Amino acid sequence: MNMLDIIIRKKNKEALSYDELKYAFNNYLSGKIPDYQMSALLMAITINGMNMSETLALTNIFIRSGETYDLSSIAPHVVDKHSTGGVGDSTTLVVGPICAALGLKMAKMSGRGLGLTGGTIDKVESIPGFIVNESKEEFFEQVRKNGFALSSQSDNLVPLDKVIYALRDVTGTTESIPLIASSIMSKKIALGATDILIDIKVGSGALLHTKEEAEILSKWLIDIGDAYHRKVETILSDMNEPLSFAIGNALEVKEAINVLNGKRSPLFDTAVEIAARLLTMVEGTDEKKAQELAIQAIDSGAALTCFNDFVTAQGGDLSKLKVSDKVIKVKAKKDGIIESIDALGAAKLAAKLGATKKTLDDKIDYGVGILLKVKKGDHIKKNDVLMELYVKNYNEEFHNGDFAFIEIV
Ligand code: URA
Repeated sequence: MNMLDIIIRKKNKEALSYDELKYAFNNYLSGKIPDYQMSALLMAITINGMNMSETLALTNIFIRSGETYDLSSIAPHVVDKHSTGGVGDSTTLVVGPICAALGLKMAKMSGRGLGLTGGTIDKVESIPGFIVNESKEEFFEQVRKNGFALSSQSDNLVPLDKVIYALRDVTGTTESIPLIASSIMSKKIALGATDILIDIKVGSGALLHTKEEAEILSKWLIDIGDAYHRKVETILSDMNEPLSFAIGNALEVKEAINVLNGKRSPLFDTAVEIAARLLTMVEGTDEKKAQELAIQAIDSGAALTCFNDFVTAQGGDLSKLKVSDKVIKVKAKKDGIIESIDALGAAKLAAKLGATKKTLDDKIDYGVGILLKVKKGDHIKKNDVLMELYVKNYNEEFHNGDFAFIEIV
């Protein structure tokens, strides 16, 4: 077997066998296959696809690249949620604490940013001291005691997804449905969750741009879950506009805290919907009642307490969370109504500010980003502040930019 033949077979739209996929991916992980050949294979897969048996095979190869956790000693049901990635999407930081406050156990494996979408691991790493790769014992203990723990992929946990994810991020191979399905499900299965809710984002700021693609991904995620006896449900949610007012790592953590303090916003609504669905999946609670309980968990302050306990348990120090002190206020050039705020445009600007990576070696600047001061439908006057840019350096381009992603009519 050799890598070049495998690349050519996928370029010619042929289905790859389990052994071929294992050869290509495991040898990439052990350093025997270079980035450029794996990039070519990922691009061929992105363009020509994989069938379900290839996708199941790849999921299995990902899972077997590391250790797997069995959480059944903690509780019969352990939940997890996953978003396919969006802009201003820090739902995990709200959903995890709500679930813990509701008495559920959430063991969550998250990823970093992918393409222009933000990743939970990058967000929590903006909290000084936060450890994303606790030992297995610490992770179990935290789920048991606090009800919510977060882990990144590591050299022990789905290491293949870790390296492939990072390569996809910088090679334009993020939007492939089979690659997304195997990446997400391998993490969920390896970490041992029994009940999994996946929030598939659709729109300009998401990996998938159409409802049809999202529905295909949904079916694949559920089918992979079935193969591993895991209960998987999905929701489809809009990502044409950023989910919250903040885009950028530390800013998003702060915004999640605002929501846990009771601030109503689309982030609040989405987090409540996901937590309520998980409660219904595990306990059969009526959906309306589950929503009321999720809202109550926030309004009583219980979810905020769980968030603080979670951050402290993972070594984070919220008092040291910093956003940049260099702030540019972007003002409206005319009176009008906010017609739309395009998520892709916002994500591109956040990337330019340094909030996400463009190459494997890039460093993320955790303190930069965008804080939107308006929302769709707002009536504004000339010179009203539309958004604040948290920047590393004052730069002409940012001072004088014409930020057309906020459309005013
Ligand atoms: N989230 C993941 O974990 N993997 C993907 O490929 C996309 C979103």
